[in-house]
Amino acid sequence: MLDYIKSPMNYTGGKYKILEHIIPSFPNSINNFVDLFAGGLNVGINVQSDTIYANDQITYLVELYRLFQDTPVDSLLSSIKERIAYFNLSQTNADGYNALRAEYNQSKSLLDFFVLTCYSFNHQIRFNSKHEFNTPFGKERSSFNESIERNLVLFCTALQKKNIILSTGDFRDFDFARLTKGDVVYCDPPYLITTGSYNDGKRGFKDWTESEDSDLLALLDKLNECGILFALSNVFAHKGQTNDALIEWSKKYSVLYIDKTYSNCSYHFKDRGAKTVEVLITNYEWEEPKCEQMTLML
Ligand SMILES: C[S@@+](CC[C@H](N)C(=O)[O-])C[C@H]1O[C@@H](n2cnc3c(N)ncnc32)[C@H](O)[C@@H]1O
Repeated sequence: MLDYIKSPMNYTGGKYKILEHIIPSFPNSINNFVDLFAGGLNVGINVQSDTIYANDQITYLVELYRLFQDTPVDSLLSSIKERIAYFNLSQTNADGYNALRAEYNQSKSLLDFFVLTCYSFNHQIRFNSKHEFNTPFGKERSSFNESIERNLVLFCTALQKKNIILSTGDFRDFDFARLTKGDVVYCDPPYLITTGSYNDGKRGFKDWTESEDSDLLALLDKLNECGILFALSNVFAHKGQTNDALIEWSKKYSVLYIDKTYSNCSYHFKDRGAKTVEVLITNYEWEEPKCEQMTLML
């Protein structure tokens, strides 16, 4: 992987692995960049832009990023290590994890929220309808390991250095009036035909349905009319299902197939036995650089 920063949240649906397709698609000089469904912030944190707006409906996540922005990295690390020692957390101590989880659900301490995600099953963030964190223990798999520590340090350093403005709320309530021609809006919403554990409607946060999907596409059409650039990550097909409305809508714009074998398939994904057809849809033309060019860009 090139020199991209990886979110310490190990976010379900995180785009770290395909950043090499997404980041080079953005213009070289950007005034305002919006990561509208920030999640693990894998995209926003790696963008070069004067101002980066990062939004997500999960309030706890956005508040955690505020803590990361405002706390010196050394003191953050020592507080995390103190909590791990206090609860004697390890890959095998389920009781310690459950005790921390119970305490977090009372205190809502942001630091404890982060420590929980390090030890939770698949690092998942899941809340019940009372907004209690309820992901089970990630036995023998999850921990605050060296790689998460390294990612955390790089992530927080970038968060503190770059001009990143955080907000929490539904994508439809974001204030787009502050954007002007040439600004870029990146969208990585939940995908209609796949389900993320952070957002299946049973987790205390709003579900993603056909109505959200069509509101988002209408919003992107409006941004396009105003000369604002957009890039939308999504899937055309997944496990035998297709998102036909999205496929039809995308014909107005440019489509990059993350897996190039689907590029010339005229949308007959089912006949071709396609598993997951992942795409980046943009309202601007660009050519994906070859490997040698990407090295030069860095
Ligand atoms: C696929 S994840 C984004 C992953 C992110 N791009 C990354 O690389 O880490 C989708 C995100 O959309 C957020 N989300 C879901 N519905 C939303 C809504 N109506 N408004 C704003 N954010 C929403 C979820 O909380 C989740 O964090």
